[in-house]
Amino acid sequence: MRKIVAGNWKMNGTRENLVEIKKISDRFSGSDVDIVICPPFTLLSAAKEIATNIFIGAQNLHVENSGAYTGEISAVMLEDLSVTHAIIGHSERRNEYGETNDVVARKVTTALKKKLNVILCIGESELERNENKTLSVLKEQIYGSLKDITDIENIIVAYEPIWAIGTGLTPSLAEISTTHDSIRLNLLEMYGSSASNIPILYGGSVNGLNASEIFSVANVNGALVGGASLSFDTFSPIVKAIENKT
Ligand code: 13P
Repeated sequence: MRKIVAGNWKMNGTRENLVEIKKISDRFSGSDVDIVICPPFTLLSAAKEIATNIFIGAQNLHVENSGAYTGEISAVMLEDLSVTHAIIGHSERRNEYGETNDVVARKVTTALKKKLNVILCIGESELERNENKTLSVLKEQIYGSLKDITDIENIIVAYEPIWAIGTGLTPSLAEISTTHDSIRLNLLEMYGSSASNIPILYGGSVNGLNASEIFSVANVNGALVGGASLSFDTFSPIVKAIENKT
């Protein structure tokens, strides 16, 4: 199983922050972890040039490849920059920009056609968690977002409980275990035994202090990191926590 630590910079970072990406790329050359940094669109081109040892990903893309969609970025444009990954269906996009499972599914299809690795985000809200709906919400998101997909080679799933994003709160290890096991089962139901190779990342307030114990949970194959991915100093301990782990 590939181990992946991805950093989602969200709407943060200007050219002066590229040095962080360069440091990460230099330090983790030859690592057994796939490191993916997803800066804002404005930094993708420059990041690709300096980050020769890690992957660079986008945070979103449009369903269509070109056309009258002011302000949008397409998979063709990402392909043109040799970007290798795209985050799709982040809860911030689902909630603030109305991305339904249906829209997410169309984006996944578009991205895979351009050979992008898709980091598909799923996660329950605090209310859904309190109503004990976590596993059913996740199942609906998985089935809905992957409904048109038969080839799962380039799929990565990231479980991000919405209430854990940017809050400093994380589920207990037992909860992470139950959730990731359930996601794995859903994927196995959909795709059979080949789904045992789909990396499942945990995201939501991952930092250098909690990463190691989170990575010790079965079916946690890496992390999708927000705030702590913005600097080399806070991101490195997270990568180190999974390096050399079997
Ligand atoms: P934080 O690590 O800042 O909680 O963000 C998680 C996230 O949303 C990554 O996509």
